[in-house]
Amino acid sequence: MSTVLATYNIKGGVGKTSAAMNLAYLAARGGARTLLWDLDPQGASTYLLRVKPKVKGGGRKLVGGRSDVEALIKGTDFERLDLLPADFSYRHMDLALDAARKPTRRLKRVLAPLAREYDYIFLDCPPSISLVTESVFEAADALLVPLVPATLSSRTFTQLRQVVDGRPGGPMIMAFFSMVDGRKRLHRDVMEAMSADHDDVLSTAIPNASDVERMGLRRDVVERYAPRGRAAQAYRALWLEIQGRLEP
Ligand SMILES: Nc1ncnc2c1ncn2[C@@H]1O[C@H](COP(=O)(O)OP(=O)(O)OP(=O)(O)O)[C@@H](O)[C@H]1O
Ligand SMILES: [Mg+2]
Repeated sequence: MSTVLATYNIKGGVGKTSAAMNLAYLAARGGARTLLWDLDPQGASTYLLRVKPKVKGGGRKLVGGRSDVEALIKGTDFERLDLLPADFSYRHMDLALDAARKPTRRLKRVLAPLAREYDYIFLDCPPSISLVTESVFEAADALLVPLVPATLSSRTFTQLRQVVDGRPGGPMIMAFFSMVDGRKRLHRDVMEAMSADHDDVLSTAIPNASDVERMGLRRDVVERYAPRGRAAQAYRALWLEIQGRLEP
């Protein structure tokens, strides 16, 4: 059975795609058969993995259970890492789900035939809260939630927990600090306060680092072009910590 991990936050631009990419790469490099499903119509991880943003039949057919999901999966330049790409049709995924029966179960259904093919399935989510998100909450074993340590992130996180905790059998939450500037007093204070209040906040933080920003130019993961940098070290530590929490 595959473990489904969704990088998710209601907020945009917090490091969801960067985390999904780097963690999925590390999982694959560690020997796990790994799939990344780019759920964002903007297709950032599809672009980073050098795959064409093209989903034959579009998002509607896929979530409607009328596509052969295995035929839509593409290989990447990385061994054991596959991609289920996004295309712009995904912007209507909400409407497609709304029209389907049991909409919140659709993503889980799409992934069901892949459970034996992959050890890990990463879902790179768009920044929103919608039917797509609800469907992600049912499909995922854990939500990986990047938190930028600013004043309102604690409030956003509380809202997210309310939504997730309200559902029996819902995903585990693993939040982590992202784009952290250790020189900022505010960042340190927010991190300290949130870590003390919540045991679902991991201890590894991803620093604000130009190595991560460069992913877009290099179309690659930090582990490959800057393995000794702080960012690569942090992603490795984060992946270890996540794996540790997943073990029963
Ligand atoms: N740790 C970091 N240090 C510096 N820059 C970062 C870091 N993480 C992400 N970024 C940059 O911030 C921008 C947003 O990152 P990313 O695409 O990973 O966020 P996202 O949450 O997936 O965004 P969206 O909500 O648009 O999908 C990108 O330009 C990325 O390079
Ligand atoms: Mg993204």
